[in-house]
Amino acid sequence: MRAIVQTKYGSADELELREIETPSPAANQVLVRVQAVAINDYDWCMVSGKPLVYRLMFGLFKPKTPIPGMEIAGEVVECGVNVKNFKVGDTVFGDLSECGFGGFAEYVSADENALFLKPSQMKYEDAAAISHAACLALQGLVDVGNLACGEKVLINGAGGGVGAYGLNIAKFYDAHVTAVDAAHKLAMLKQNGFDEALDYQSIDFTRQPAQYDLILDTKTNRGVFRYLKVLAPNGRYVTVGGSVMRLIQLLLLKPWVALFTNKRVSIVALKTNKDLATICEWYLAKKLVPVVELRESLSAVPQAISYFGAGKHKGKLVVRLK
Ligand SMILES: NC(=O)c1ccc[n+]([C@@H]2O[C@H](COP(=O)([O-])OP(=O)(O)OC[C@H]3O[C@@H](n4cnc5c(N)ncnc54)[C@H](OP(=O)(O)O)[C@@H]3O)[C@@H](O)[C@H]2O)c1
Repeated sequence: MRAIVQTKYGSADELELREIETPSPAANQVLVRVQAVAINDYDWCMVSGKPLVYRLMFGLFKPKTPIPGMEIAGEVVECGVNVKNFKVGDTVFGDLSECGFGGFAEYVSADENALFLKPSQMKYEDAAAISHAACLALQGLVDVGNLACGEKVLINGAGGGVGAYGLNIAKFYDAHVTAVDAAHKLAMLKQNGFDEALDYQSIDFTRQPAQYDLILDTKTNRGVFRYLKVLAPNGRYVTVGGSVMRLIQLLLLKPWVALFTNKRVSIVALKTNKDLATICEWYLAKKLVPVVELRESLSAVPQAISYFGAGKHKGKLVVRLK
């Protein structure tokens, strides 16, 4: 099979399209013929080897996993002997970040627990775009953020995957939603339904008078006290990721914030693939609408990863394999 192989950290130039042996599924795995795969922040971190702390997970000096790619959709072509939930011919999707990545390839062996049946009405490119970012947005806003009807929400880093699904979810709750992202994405964000959109390069939302009931952050890059200032009474600040030092500070101060203020700060620890049944239901009801930028063919992956790393993507960047 053909796969995108990475042997060292650096840039997307380190990625090579190679002919390698097709994997065989272990007892609890299925072999999936990949039809679509999304590019994620995790893939970019695995390719660049940054932030350095991620190397504890991905391999200290070189990547442990030779093939990145984690958010896939495809068709089951072989089942391991202990597989209970799938059969050959099923169409599936899921997030493989906890079971070895490997999605930038024509075939991947994946744990059955990381996969979910893809409804026939769900396009492959949408299925590849939905499992990781929609779970993060749902868990961030609802499970951790306790979003309530009619609240004022701000999503920082709103132009990526989490932001697009975050908007959909916040709108079920009739929230007023403000986006923060780069200037060139603001028109698209307003068109997609954000009530307001701020350019992070010219406006620091933590220095504005507006206050929010819930802030969902994909880019934590300021100190906790700055976020507290723009939270309304009983407001919650929830982050899914960002600067490692800022996240550590947040963890250390979290109990003190709870003790001395009526506000809360939290970090989402993603429960991978937990919400896929709900996500399918909402997708079919057109309540979750993936925003997808599409590329064709496996050979487009290195260029797509570079484009992602430069922050040029809008919504989810997905590669469709033919
Ligand atoms: N909590 C967990 O368990 C867990 C698990 C996996 C991943 N994650 C995290 O989840 C996040 C993924 O979010 P995503 O998929 O939506 O990412 P994404 O697609 O990369 O989107 C992030 C957006 O933020 C924008 N941005 C960059 N710098 C910014 C700044 N200073 N202020 C405001 N916006 C800024 C980017 O635009 P430009 O770059 O064009 O400016 C981009 O549009 C990452 O932080 C990742 O590490 C968390």
